[in-house]
Amino acid sequence: MFTTDNVVVSIGGSILVPGENDSEYILRLAAMLKEVSKDARLAVICGGGKTARYYAGIAKELGGGDYEQDILGIAATRMNAQLLALALGDMPDDVHRTPEALVNDGRRISVMGGTEPGHTTDAVTAMVAKALGATRMINATAVDGVYTADPRKDPNAKKISRMTIDELDDIVYDEHHASSSGVFDPLGVKIARESKIDILIVDGRDIDELRNAILGKEIKGTFVDSH
Ligand code: UTP
Repeated sequence: MFTTDNVVVSIGGSILVPGENDSEYILRLAAMLKEVSKDARLAVICGGGKTARYYAGIAKELGGGDYEQDILGIAATRMNAQLLALALGDMPDDVHRTPEALVNDGRRISVMGGTEPGHTTDAVTAMVAKALGATRMINATAVDGVYTADPRKDPNAKKISRMTIDELDDIVYDEHHASSSGVFDPLGVKIARESKIDILIVDGRDIDELRNAILGKEIKGTFVDSH
């Protein structure tokens, strides 16, 4: 059975700030997080979404390379983290924190964005889970799980309810090499595998589903077993 001592949640930028009713979603999310923080200590890592891609795109046009684009992407993740912190009524001035600083901040809910160039917030989420000794991490995205194929292109694509970390690794490895958008950051998978952290991939727009994932109840998304 799950323990709910330390739960690490990554909220994709695509669901935090899709560009429509953003504040409404962020408020609902904050209310749910506050409610479940009575049962679990939460670490929440926010992604950059559209804002990150927008700024990285301009940086590229200006001649910036991967490093410069990452720096702008990280700034976007931190702006999103500040929005969520604001909705939680506890806007910190330290979203520049590291996973280690988060572990020691003593809050029931800690919020942060990205950390340094070269990876995405999936990897940061795995680093935080490792630093906290968490046994699972939740990846709240705009899709409701991992599919056998891209459901937007293949009508026969089926949602996978349970898979092993090695199976996820095979998928991200293939995707990585095909340079597609990627289900999950390969570094995040590597850390999760080494530290035996299960990954729950859920539709973060569905607040009830996200609550269930945090509380260790049954989910509709994909459970990735790292044990
Ligand atoms: P995200 O983690 O949101 O990237 O960070 P993503 O997975 O591509 O986006 P969504 O939100 O799931 O759609 C945005 C960008 O910021 C940089 C990377 O360039 C990343 O693509 N970043 C983020 C870093 O360089 N380091 C970090 O720790 C986090």
